[in-house]
Amino acid sequence: MDASRNGGLETGAELVQAQAELWNHVFAYTRSMSLRCAVELGIPDAVHRHGGAATVPELVAALSLPPSRAPYLRRLMRLLAHAGFFSFDDAAAGYGLTPLSRLLVCSPGAGGQDLSPFALAMLHPVIVSPSMSLASWFRATDARNAAARVPFDAAHGRDFWAVAKDDREFGAAFNDAMACDGRFVTDVLVRDHSYVFRGLASLVDVGGGSGGAARAIAAAFPHVRCSVLELPHVVASVPPGERGGVEFVAGDMFEHVPKADAVLLKWILHGWDDEECVRILRRCREAIPTKDSGRVIVMDLVVGSSPADERATETQLLWDVMMMGVVGSPERDEREWRKIFEDAGFSGYKIVAVLGIRSVIEVYP
Ligand SMILES: C[S@@+](CC[C@H](N)C(=O)[O-])C[C@H]1O[C@@H](n2cnc3c(N)ncnc32)[C@H](O)[C@@H]1O
Repeated sequence: MDASRNGGLETGAELVQAQAELWNHVFAYTRSMSLRCAVELGIPDAVHRHGGAATVPELVAALSLPPSRAPYLRRLMRLLAHAGFFSFDDAAAGYGLTPLSRLLVCSPGAGGQDLSPFALAMLHPVIVSPSMSLASWFRATDARNAAARVPFDAAHGRDFWAVAKDDREFGAAFNDAMACDGRFVTDVLVRDHSYVFRGLASLVDVGGGSGGAARAIAAAFPHVRCSVLELPHVVASVPPGERGGVEFVAGDMFEHVPKADAVLLKWILHGWDDEECVRILRRCREAIPTKDSGRVIVMDLVVGSSPADERATETQLLWDVMMMGVVGSPERDEREWRKIFEDAGFSGYKIVAVLGIRSVIEVYP
């Protein structure tokens, strides 16, 4: 065999090993979709309600599935257990929760760290479908793809924010995803890194969605006056009775940011290009005091900032390409962040890598 034709692979064993690796990547979406199925069916919750472990027949009964589906559920559970979502006890043939699936339990009183809305929104067809036609967008040979700024716009004929506004079901799913992450991250910060909120009497969460983070901050620090600046349709979707002491202000962060000791920008800047980020940051700088504790608190990815861990880097790069498809803007490394902070007139910043693959960046006026 001509080894050069196969990238230097010599033996049949090497070739089939490479083929198996290729298959793993080809079918990786099956893992994501099996996860989506498990969350939609409520499998983590059913295991939790069953005392933390359940067999397949017990799951079929708990989920009210037709008994004929049991053999198929067994296969789904085998993959999910292999992927780390469930443990498997051979003797009892029972599936148990793992740290991963505990994050997907939504029963009240189960610990309150339910990230299932995030999994459902990110695996929603509105977000996943543009990735089916990435190559067409790159080629840009037809009018639709040539005119589209990003693959999402080509697939849906509108940009992400227009779809989130007009498609009520998707918009609500997206807001729920952001809110559950806001609660989750704030709980971690309040518990282990509360210095992030030191010295504040007021905080405005710019683009704070339905207020998941702001409500959690207000609950943990009752002396901090918390508000959310959001687009009018998002503010209108939050019932007054569910605002948890947080003031909601309808507006546009490119125009004006209400005054506060600190501005929180959580998962905002990664959705905009550099020039837009500088415009948002200038409005934020105008909103905070130039001395004492005045600061902008950015929560976002800093590519390369996590410990040298191949999987963490891969997750950051997965985020980057997902963002490329949906809104276009990049996940940034430290050099790219520094440039936009400087261009917006800030005097300094500090990156605190305490949120797994995300960081808190304190930016000083
Ligand atoms: C990726 S989400 C982040 C939500 C929230 N900060 C979080 O991390 O959970 C971006 C948010 O920015 C809001 N947004 C978009 N454009 C905006 C604008 N011009 N002014 C204010 N908010 C805006 C969206 O409605 C959305 O809730």
